[in-house]
Amino acid sequence: MGKDVIIALDFSTAEETLSFLDKFADNDRKPYVKVGMELYYAEGPAIIKAIKKRGHKLFLDLKLHDIPNTVRKAMSVLSNLDVDMVNVHAAGTIDMMKAAKEGLTREDGSRPLLIAVTQLTSTSQERMTNELLIEEDIDKVVIKYAENADDAGLDGVVCSPLEAGKIHSACGRNFLTVTPGVRFADGDKGDQVRVTTPERAKEIGSDYIVVGRPITQADDPVAAYNRCVAEFVEE
Ligand code: C5P
Repeated sequence: MGKDVIIALDFSTAEETLSFLDKFADNDRKPYVKVGMELYYAEGPAIIKAIKKRGHKLFLDLKLHDIPNTVRKAMSVLSNLDVDMVNVHAAGTIDMMKAAKEGLTREDGSRPLLIAVTQLTSTSQERMTNELLIEEDIDKVVIKYAENADDAGLDGVVCSPLEAGKIHSACGRNFLTVTPGVRFADGDKGDQVRVTTPERAKEIGSDYIVVGRPITQADDPVAAYNRCVAEFVEE
């Protein structure tokens, strides 16, 4: 299975993003990167093509959620961008997730990895109960949504590293867990609340860790990235 460190490129312009990636030009390992809504909506497909041209693997984190037909067609467009991983909201239902997978699959049968968001980490138990009228325990909802993603034929979910073990128990070891909320033991937590170190995420069984500020805001981003790789990927 993959096991990789994905750098969250949470920048607002192509210029900032590409000059950040320039720092890695001489690094032995070329980082897997994540582009989210802010950068994609600002710069469009051109930024994806520019990053892919430099040889990076790319997770396009747009969290699609719409009727199945619309998601199928949108995924077909994203698949043509040659991205390596994309995602949807599991709340869109099993039918929508199946449509997403169909849309992503290219004529030769290949496709990017497709993962689902279960409940956003910003959704508390209280908000889920009072605003969304979902009365179950949030942990149970997260597992059920992961099972739905598995039933729809998706490859995995985005989740907290602290949930990765439970999700593997419910959906199997090959079902991918992609986990943000990672901080170095001696680092600043920022606005993340439930965090783990890269080493601990590895022990719990995360397949990919998504790391933003501990790398992008570091004095030496290349050293911070290589430290993540040493703690999470290397034996
Ligand atoms: O800077 P930091 O390491 O907190 O960045 C984490 C990245 O993962 C950000 O791009 C954030 O949007 C994303 N993310 C997250 N928590 C989730 C889902 C995505 O932090 N539940």
